[in-house]
Amino acid sequence: MNITPQSNVGQIVAENYRYAGVFRAAGIDFCCKGNHSIQHACEQSNLNVDDLIAQLKEVEATPAQTEEQDYNSWPLDLLADYIEKTHHRYVRHRIEEITPYLDKIMRVHGGRHPELVDINELFSESAKELVEHMDKEESGLFPQIRKLVDSKKGSAQDSSSVEVPIASMHHDHDAVGERFHKMSVLSDKYTPPPDACNTYMVTYSLLKEFEDDLFRHIHLENNILFPKSIVLEQDLNSAAPVA
Ligand SMILES: [Fe+2]
Ligand SMILES: [Fe+2]
Repeated sequence: MNITPQSNVGQIVAENYRYAGVFRAAGIDFCCKGNHSIQHACEQSNLNVDDLIAQLKEVEATPAQTEEQDYNSWPLDLLADYIEKTHHRYVRHRIEEITPYLDKIMRVHGGRHPELVDINELFSESAKELVEHMDKEESGLFPQIRKLVDSKKGSAQDSSSVEVPIASMHHDHDAVGERFHKMSVLSDKYTPPPDACNTYMVTYSLLKEFEDDLFRHIHLENNILFPKSIVLEQDLNSAAPVA
């Protein structure tokens, strides 16, 4: 892959998710705010663009330990199914698990670690919004995307546009991304303090895993599923009617 300062951050990660690790370590948002060049991202974060590109090339040269799926080549209906059955299920399941843990450590340790009160509040707001957000994707946008794919096969037509719901989903992603950024800062990237009990450590480890999954989930939507759905819809609208 030819990576230059003008390469788009989100598109690089869409090509190969292994690049995400470099952006994360550098504090560059590749999912919610991934639609900009490496040059721009480095200027915003006060980083040397040549050093960052060298790190990305190092990843390219290192053999992968696990095979990364090429989501960018998947049909959009398959990608929507995959997001629903893996990431959406995971989010719902983990919310049920993390909520009582966070509540407990806030009650026990909140006196010495007042940041837990804010983290608990930020997580519960995120959890509520994420569930509503995924419900909207599953009942509205994703079925619309599947219809677009069917339209391309010539078996269905849908006149409603995906652009408006996608803009609304982007707004939700930005809001939850901002909350997780605050949680990460408050918890020092989910690092338990020296006096943390086991529940504290487990909760932080679950939160870190939840954030990692959320970034991958939002990346798949923001950088692959949504832009490709808009292009597919535009292609269908500009195509000549079948005689
Ligand atoms: Fe989603
Ligand atoms: Fe989403």
